[in-house]
Amino acid sequence: MFGRRTEGQAAAPRKSAAAPAPAVPRQEGSAAAPAATAAAAPPKPLPPKQTAPKPAVQARAGDHRSENYYQIKTTIFNALIDTIDLTQLAQLDAESAREEIRDIVNEILSIKNVVMSISEQEALLQDICNDVLGYGPLEPLLARDDIADIMVNGCERTFIEVNGKVELTNVRFRDNSQLMNICQRIVSQVGRRVDESSPICDARLPDGSRVNVIVPPLAIDGPALTIRKFRRDKLMMNDLVQYNSISQEGAEVLGIIGKVRCNVLISGGTGSGKTTLLNCLTGFIDTDERVITCEDAAELQLQQPHVVRLETRPPNLEGQGQVTMTELVRNCLRMRPERIIVGEVRGPEAFDLLQAMNTGHDGSMGTLHANSPREALSRLESMITMGGYALPSKTIREMICGSIDVVIQAARLRDGSRRITHITEVLGTEGDVIITQDLFVYEIEGEDETGRIIGKHKSTGIARPSFWDRARYYNQHQALAAALDRAQG
Ligand SMILES: Nc1ncnc2c1ncn2[C@@H]1O[C@H](COP(=O)(O)OP(=O)(O)OP(=O)(O)O)[C@@H](O)[C@H]1O
Ligand SMILES: [Mg+2]
Repeated sequence: MFGRRTEGQAAAPRKSAAAPAPAVPRQEGSAAAPAATAAAAPPKPLPPKQTAPKPAVQARAGDHRSENYYQIKTTIFNALIDTIDLTQLAQLDAESAREEIRDIVNEILSIKNVVMSISEQEALLQDICNDVLGYGPLEPLLARDDIADIMVNGCERTFIEVNGKVELTNVRFRDNSQLMNICQRIVSQVGRRVDESSPICDARLPDGSRVNVIVPPLAIDGPALTIRKFRRDKLMMNDLVQYNSISQEGAEVLGIIGKVRCNVLISGGTGSGKTTLLNCLTGFIDTDERVITCEDAAELQLQQPHVVRLETRPPNLEGQGQVTMTELVRNCLRMRPERIIVGEVRGPEAFDLLQAMNTGHDGSMGTLHANSPREALSRLESMITMGGYALPSKTIREMICGSIDVVIQAARLRDGSRRITHITEVLGTEGDVIITQDLFVYEIEGEDETGRIIGKHKSTGIARPSFWDRARYYNQHQALAAALDRAQG
């Protein structure tokens, strides 16, 4: 028990005078006195209120914590750190550790004569437990299911994306070293390290969230942490229809594209919903197909029983052991795949994916960053060229046409909504030019009084797409004709 400070009893996890410096860094210039001395001394007044620089952007929702609250928290936190031994605390299970912290904090509060409402006190206890045991101020954000992204720009500002909109939160870190500590804690879970000598780190957390950390000296204003939160209830095609991301008919056509093993490229900007869409499409894969997925950070959640999931590996600290996407895709081919799914195509693996698509692995899919279907195809071409394949561009284009059947474009519109803006077929080449044909496009018609974009998914009137024969082969042609008919009506 190290919560109670009984006279003459040196509680176990408490620090001795010679205890090492606290593992959690202290704020510079803190006025906190160690609780042990505070116990004997008369209650100290709280340090005078400092005027912290105000963020230029004001937090929108729930900015209820005052400057005073943060001052008190720092004081109590520092007193706590001076009192307990973090290494011993780490040996307790989470519940007992929380109890111990709770006891000591309550004691420090009464010693220091801090006047707080019960709810403020609860919030303080919660915050301090999070600081010591978890991810500090990030905890409440990590616990929320409605957040898509968490973006921490140094200790002062944290933004989140909710419902497609980015907003500033009231989350603040004591200083950049606390933030740095939390970044370390996050990436060390997955056996990675981030510091001045290796200032960039990409990782996937055990819960599936994707994390990127970049720290000084590369990040000038303090560590920048970006988390794409894992969504437990992945969106399905029906959800996309409900959110108007695609029309009902468009969704049916997408389902057929997935079922009849078209080779698909999903294109879109950052956070436009590419991975979500890829995940939805994989829902139409038959349960008896052998699927191999290759990703940088495993995000896809295939429901089929016959799936092998592969993940690339960054180099270790000595710069060794890297396994690239190209190597994974190549290895895939020796694993007797029926479909290969590449989470994100960014480099020379584009060539191997196209080869795979071309050589009997119909129904393979991948995503890439581009702003239109045309741009997606030319990006694919430049990835191959930059990968060092000395092929004439005509050959590369023919290869692209021979491999990719459909490009689906995803976009995040300016009101934060996500839409599938194009379902486009790749028809072939004419001379040097790749010929494409849109099946569905999203047309923006205006915006309502709240700034939400109004638009419609429109069929371009194509009744027999080029994958018609394929649809017939898989006995999906009637469903395809019906969906396209209805879309025109
Ligand atoms: N149609 C949609 N409607 C609403 N939210 C969506 C939709 N599609 C995706 N999202 C949400 O948007 C966020 C980003 O989606 P996703 O990870 O699929 O994007 P991405 O394009 O793959 O991003 P990145 O470029 O970072 O890989 C996720 O939280 C996801 O749940
Ligand atoms: Mg993605």
